[in-house]
Amino acid sequence: MLLVVTNRTDLSSDYLILKLKSRSVPFARLNTEDYGFTYKIKINIGQQLRNFVIEFTDGQIIRMDEITSVYFHHPNPPILENIVTEADREFAERETLEVLRSIWRMIPEQKWLNHPINLWRAVNKVEQLLAAFEIGLDIPETLIASDKDSISSFIKNAKRNIIAKAVKHGFISCDGKILVAPSQRLPSTYLEDFQSFAEIPTVYQHEIDKVYDVRVVVVGQKLFATAIHSQNYTETEVDWRIGDIVGIDLYHEKIDLPNGVENKCKELVSFFSLQYSSMDFVLGKDRKYYFLELNPNGQWAWIEQIVGYPIRDAILDNLIDEHINNGCKRN
Ligand SMILES: Nc1ncnc2c1ncn2[C@@H]1O[C@H](COP(=O)(O)OP(=O)(O)OP(=O)(O)O)[C@@H](O)[C@H]1O
Ligand SMILES: [Mg+2]
Repeated sequence: MLLVVTNRTDLSSDYLILKLKSRSVPFARLNTEDYGFTYKIKINIGQQLRNFVIEFTDGQIIRMDEITSVYFHHPNPPILENIVTEADREFAERETLEVLRSIWRMIPEQKWLNHPINLWRAVNKVEQLLAAFEIGLDIPETLIASDKDSISSFIKNAKRNIIAKAVKHGFISCDGKILVAPSQRLPSTYLEDFQSFAEIPTVYQHEIDKVYDVRVVVVGQKLFATAIHSQNYTETEVDWRIGDIVGIDLYHEKIDLPNGVENKCKELVSFFSLQYSSMDFVLGKDRKYYFLELNPNGQWAWIEQIVGYPIRDAILDNLIDEHINNGCKRN
């Protein structure tokens, strides 16, 4: 039984499940925010028993020992609105989240794509940049700071455009909608107007003159690289994701990375003990591939839909076939 641990609206999980059905793989989907609405958990710890059970309201029951592999993609914390009183809600949600985290710990690491502990470690951008640099990938010169003096000297010494972006990620939740806070090229008046940004630590990077953006998807030892032709439109020149907002469909193209870069991508993913990660690069006009960030929980379905890479099969092979064939799926 493959357990898909996700949220109600995750498109990559929807898309993966279509493939699970077509390959007749037994699975259950756990939308973690729905605790109390669609499922409950029971953990037994004693002389005879050390296990857990997930009971779904539709009658399905999954015992710990039946879980052969877990696809873990953007689970949300439980929302217990209307189940407990507002006064009890914070406590109840925290307790329930802890129960979920407890059952993750009871499932052996080799069954996961990706194991939550590895995921939580890998999402830190600073550690990503440090590791990428150690491995020998090119990265843009970077400053993370909030004080005007450091930022001012970084900008002056750079003698080129500077990109500013979020330290964690550029998504903002506003009135139930997810908005993108895009990467921005600093205007020449930035330092004069600095007060508006004061005291928020921000990532400042030398802007790389791009040929195109590159999305890399690594699954185990498989790698899929796609060029996103962001430089075809002025709107998407700095941040290609603006295309989604203004309705521009950017041309996506399968590409081959140089062997050295490809191997370093795989090395970086295994450095963080991940089975899956997407990665953002840009190809500079100097023909170097600059690593920007690792997205260990990143979306991938749109890449398969546009360019046709068999990413779902790669994920399922990693989660199922290797496990079944080898007894223990990974080294
Ligand atoms: N140093 C840079 N030089 C040129 N373009 C950059 C640079 N950094 C980011 N960009 C552009 O900004 C966009 C988003 O890049 P990136 O993924 O690094 O941003 P982010 O805000 O960290 O993203 P996320 O929200 O996914 O964490 C891409 O189009 C990328 O090309
Ligand atoms: Mg990104």
